[in-house]
Amino acid sequence: MALPNKPMGELKAVRDPEVVEKEVDVLVVGGGMAACGTAFEVKKWLGDDQTVLLVDKAAMERSGAVAQGLSAINTYIGDNSPDDYVRMVRNDLMGLVREDLIFDLGCHVDDSVHLFEEWGLPVWKKTEDGKNLDGKKGQKMGTLKSGATPVRTGKWQIMINGESYKRIVAEAAKLALGDDNILERVFIVELLLDAKVENQIAGAVGFSVRENKVYIIKCKTMMVACGGAVNIYQPRSVGEGKGRAWYPVWNAGSTYTMCMKVGAELTMMENRFTPARFKDGYGPVGAWFLLFKAKTLNGLGEAFAGSDAAKAELEKYAPYGTAAITPTCLRNHLMLFEMKEGRGPIMMDTVTALAELGKTMDKKELKHLESEAWEDFLDMTCGQANLWCAQDCEPEKKNSEIMPTEPYLLGSHSGCCGLWASGPDYDWVPDAYKIKARNGKIYKLMTTVEGLFTAGDGVGGSGHKFSSGSHSEGRTTAKQMVRFAKDFADFTPTLAQSNEELVDLVYKPVRTFLDNCEYTTAVDINPNYIKPEGMMYRLMKATHEYGAGTATYYQTSSKNLEVVMDLLQTMREDCDKMAAGDLHELMRAWEIYHRIWTVEAHLRHIQYRKETRYPGFYYQADHPGQDDENWFCFVNSKYDPKEAKWDIFKKEYIKIIPD
Ligand code: FAD
Ligand code: ADX
Repeated sequence: MALPNKPMGELKAVRDPEVVEKEVDVLVVGGGMAACGTAFEVKKWLGDDQTVLLVDKAAMERSGAVAQGLSAINTYIGDNSPDDYVRMVRNDLMGLVREDLIFDLGCHVDDSVHLFEEWGLPVWKKTEDGKNLDGKKGQKMGTLKSGATPVRTGKWQIMINGESYKRIVAEAAKLALGDDNILERVFIVELLLDAKVENQIAGAVGFSVRENKVYIIKCKTMMVACGGAVNIYQPRSVGEGKGRAWYPVWNAGSTYTMCMKVGAELTMMENRFTPARFKDGYGPVGAWFLLFKAKTLNGLGEAFAGSDAAKAELEKYAPYGTAAITPTCLRNHLMLFEMKEGRGPIMMDTVTALAELGKTMDKKELKHLESEAWEDFLDMTCGQANLWCAQDCEPEKKNSEIMPTEPYLLGSHSGCCGLWASGPDYDWVPDAYKIKARNGKIYKLMTTVEGLFTAGDGVGGSGHKFSSGSHSEGRTTAKQMVRFAKDFADFTPTLAQSNEELVDLVYKPVRTFLDNCEYTTAVDINPNYIKPEGMMYRLMKATHEYGAGTATYYQTSSKNLEVVMDLLQTMREDCDKMAAGDLHELMRAWEIYHRIWTVEAHLRHIQYRKETRYPGFYYQADHPGQDDENWFCFVNSKYDPKEAKWDIFKKEYIKIIPD
């Protein structure tokens, strides 16, 4: 159940919180698209004697990346084939992806989209004479499931009126799971391994951000789907605007950090997503490129993407660069190329695009088109619409600037970092892609830690799942977790740590604060502690300057990586001295801790891969260009929790779907 919003300011943290213990068969950590899929599905498979609990740090109706709503569902297969879907993802991510997972997702994802529509999500439809019907009007054409034609923006994307997308999906999830099986506003801090069975997940520990309570939850199996990571790099926004980023500010790398800390293998953490967005408001570009057919212009007013210089640049990255659709990182690369040559800023030519489309429209249709342009932002990034108002920008009269943002880590949008997860148990799936549990069975989407699953942004090597694909993966995981819990019905989770030790861990920043806060008059400045905000600035400055942030046009080098690694190591040590005076600050402390580990994994992978696989997302100056001969493989890493050591290594890429 969601606790009400805070009546007056933040709740002060106390030294000794109440301890709440729980034990369930299946634990779901996260309440986003993937977790909502799990919540919707899980009870259908759960035995009468089995139990489930979902824990979200926020309130499910508005948590995660879909919180603000979306204006498109970016993965709907429809009349396309899953094979082609694999080809598209593979090309966009420069060749290295888990084709088994992507193909499998392609076979299931549409069912989630059909459910969304059934639950009330308005999907735009095409009329027989090719016109677009949005909102309620779209319903006249029937449902997607009954054969109605969606309005495709690109080959894979369909338009929706999605301001309430997350509410709709969360409502169905909550209804299916039942309020008693949901804990909202509880931040999970660490996962716990079993004390008796080697490499088996046994539980998690977290705290309420609304009450002074620590939750210790035991389970047989668990899914962690806490999204990706934001604010690991200095954002372009400053001052008050700093709270605004492209990615939702509350996904702090918890998925990657918590799973890696119990020894789960990571894959492709060197990959990042640096989206090109409408400058300062972070407005999406997909609808402008695909639906409105807009072009980008450089500072000289040239459509640079089609120029000979751009073609020559793209040829360096063949076959990806020369494919019909230029990969996302290379689209950025071309923009950066123009900017570095002094031909910035880059503008989205909204004026020409709307004028062209308007040629075949009457006045009323034209007005509607203009309102669609606004709605694209209002549905998912309303801050961009505010910015247009503030800047007196009418897109039919004035072009807007586009700019690559700061980097983010995620595995379900146009990026593919995450956990190494088991492929499905089909004969066409290579053994190297399957992870066997101790009973010899394969559980799809299980990580290398037994009983620990992930979905959505958590699954590495399989980007372009987006909202629908993440939901679909969550549903898959539900079935697999129940199977696991049934197969290991006689397993009883045992924790190695006492309740007291776990409370000491979670509330350490509170106690550090209480022990020292009276030493100085300014509560944020103290020789005995650092506040999470200060730590955030340290982290951002280090990654910004040395870790291929916007400060250096996303460029780093071996020496810079050495420097940042050293800084991160010190930060990790200094985290011991973090202090939190209230529950919100305690959450901030744990978020920054999760961010530091996550970005360290990212930079370790960049350091290990001696090439630049994703120009436009990052550049390793000592190793420019791609080196297929040595690096056409995954890079995986594993943190050993017992030895406190990292191992990083190559993992073979296996092509399954022919070109
Ligand atoms: P999320 O949905 O982000 O959920 C993460 C959940 O984990 C949240 O509930 C969060 O509260 C919870 N959480 C985080 N940390 C903790 C913790 N420590 N303890 C407990 N809970 C925690 N897809 C489309 O199909 N179409 C689009 O137009 C589109 N636009 C997008 C625009 C933006 C700006 C972004 C960021 C994404 C967009 N996507 C779009 C992609 C889509 O939103 C994601 O693919 C999807 O939300 C990923 O699902 P997830 O469950 O992995 O993560
Ligand atoms: S969104 O999440 O904010 O909607 P974005 O606007 O970047 O993301 O992209 C939406 C969809 O359009 C994604 O599937 C993305 O891959 C695709 N897309 C965006 N720009 C282009 C482009 N220029 N060419 C092809 N596909 C694109």
